[in-house]
Amino acid sequence: MTLIEQTIINHQTKNNPIWIMRQAGRYLPEFREIRKLNTDFIKLCLNESLSSEITLQPLKRFDLDAAIIFSDILMVPYGLNQHVEFKKNFGPILGELNLDQILKIDEVDFVKKIYPVYKAINSVSKNNLTNGKNTIGFVGAPWTLLVYMINRQSPKKSLKKDFYKDNFLLNRILIILEKFLKLHIKNQVDNGAEIIQIFDSWAGLLNERDLPNYIYIPTLNLVEFTKSLNVPVICFPRGIKNYSEYCKIVKPDVICIDYEVNPKQILKEIKIPVQGGMDPKVLLTDKKNLKKEAEKYLDIFKDHPYIFNLGHGVLPETDPNMMDYLVKLVKDY
Ligand code: CP3
Repeated sequence: MTLIEQTIINHQTKNNPIWIMRQAGRYLPEFREIRKLNTDFIKLCLNESLSSEITLQPLKRFDLDAAIIFSDILMVPYGLNQHVEFKKNFGPILGELNLDQILKIDEVDFVKKIYPVYKAINSVSKNNLTNGKNTIGFVGAPWTLLVYMINRQSPKKSLKKDFYKDNFLLNRILIILEKFLKLHIKNQVDNGAEIIQIFDSWAGLLNERDLPNYIYIPTLNLVEFTKSLNVPVICFPRGIKNYSEYCKIVKPDVICIDYEVNPKQILKEIKIPVQGGMDPKVLLTDKKNLKKEAEKYLDIFKDHPYIFNLGHGVLPETDPNMMDYLVKLVKDY
């Protein structure tokens, strides 16, 4: 059993596993080198050999406990034939959403369009660098993908004014997303993903009364589906207020917390394994401060099953030496 599996399944608390969101990314010079020559991000995600290589880059440098596949949550809208592109210094931009067109897509079309993602997972999970470690697959939560598909760009602080205007459309898209996200999870698992993380980056934008319809019910369906494949599932509902209610209803195997969450409060309220929390900006300071902040989380969760990670993705400005220091610090704790 890997360290992560011992933590999730046996609830061991002695050795903290560590992996980092966006561990393969722009803070690594070897990634930037590949990226410079591959300006189309979607195409890069669909290049099986390069996306496998990028996935493994951080494992060559650091003693991480998992590889997370280099892909993006927006590969699902892309697979549903919505145009997706990534603009430098702006983020993702999606094309017009056409329900009639989406309704025409079947499972075969969808899988064909993003097939290299599954091949990359297969090759990563068979690589020696992942021996004794886990390969993590992921999806965007239905709500967060709905946000991108309707809003057509990151909402930053708020959604477009007429976001909720077409209730019929919103609910149809949610149902379609659920179907294709299950397929996407199943194909990742069939190709070697041993854990699934569900990213709900915009969970914090919803009113409390809308949580059941947009988050609790559709996410619970994905969690139950993933568990039925005998694969543990980590949920990251960034910005939600009530973690104990979320865990009680959605029932993930692990809850991932963002950097605005009070870890002591979580320890008090949550019985399941916890992941993440530390502010990625801490890696931009100095080693002394990094040690202090990392040990804060390790101390708080010393008797609780805890997977070390950040409270959001590692920032592009991060010095890889700081990451190296962090991984060693967690391993030596
Ligand atoms: O964590 C990993 O290393 C695995 C790969 C991964 C990426 N995106 C690669 C990526 C994962 C798990 C994601 C998830 C993702 N993608 C989320 C959920 C997590 C979060 O950040 O809240 C979201 C909201 C997206 C959508 C997305 N993709 C945005 C908003 C952006 C632009 C912002 C940015 O950081 O540039 C992306 C691009 C993206 N996805 C990059 C990477 C490495 C940067 C691409 C580049 O310009 O080189």
